[in-house]
Amino acid sequence: METRVVSAERSDQETLRNLLQLYAYDFSEILSLDVDQTGRFKEEPLAAYWSDAWRFPFLLRVHEHLAGFALVDHKSKLSAADDVWDVAEFFVLRKYRRAGVGMTAAHQIFAAHAGKWEVRQRRANVAATSFWRRTISAYTGGLFSEELVDDERWRGPVQRFLSGAGATGRILPEWPERSRFAAVVEDRSARS
Ligand SMILES: CC(C)(COP(=O)(O)OP(=O)(O)OC[C@H]1O[C@@H](n2cnc3c(N)ncnc32)[C@H](O)[C@@H]1OP(=O)(O)O)[C@@H](O)C(=O)NCCC(=O)NCCS
Repeated sequence: METRVVSAERSDQETLRNLLQLYAYDFSEILSLDVDQTGRFKEEPLAAYWSDAWRFPFLLRVHEHLAGFALVDHKSKLSAADDVWDVAEFFVLRKYRRAGVGMTAAHQIFAAHAGKWEVRQRRANVAATSFWRRTISAYTGGLFSEELVDDERWRGPVQRFLSGAGATGRILPEWPERSRFAAVVEDRSARS
């Protein structure tokens, strides 16, 4: 599928707001989320994505269709370091799942934003952890670290890696629990 990642403009705010409702609906399976009396999930403020220089909103498109979105911050959610890219939210519409759209989009985003990356999943979101391990493994050739964080900053797995020319395949010494996850790299063709 021809997957494209495009910057979401301020004029796309309503589109993102609508997609975030579908995202919240998916998360309501693992988080205790209810809709309000109008049938909508609580909305998080989005305006900062067009006023803060360190926030980057994206829409995912397959051909001319909307297929999802990604919200990326250039600030660590864990340490507040401003030289770390963080995937704040990432979503692929159900119609487009398990077709490589998420992986292709994530690779485009990693390649366009060189440097240190942290990708976090809630502990209960085991499908997302499988997705990110596979996606990051494919991008880095299996060289990334994973830490299970369990404190007030975050509760769940966090993968760390470097992106950009010459950076992939390196692991920084300050990253905890350095390990290879080559085992999660599977050859799609081998399984078909
Ligand atoms: C997680 C999500 C982004 C995956 O998007 P996707 O486009 O379906 O992912 P891809 O097709 O690129 O998947 C690539 C690989 O990741 C793994 N993967 C993807 N979804 C998976 C799932 N539900 N369960 C287990 N592994 C999964 C598989 O190895 C897959 O390869 P395969 O289909 O050949 O087996 C999508 O399911 C989604 O939006 N989920 C709800 C929101 C969410 O949890 N976002 C992540 C927040 S951290």
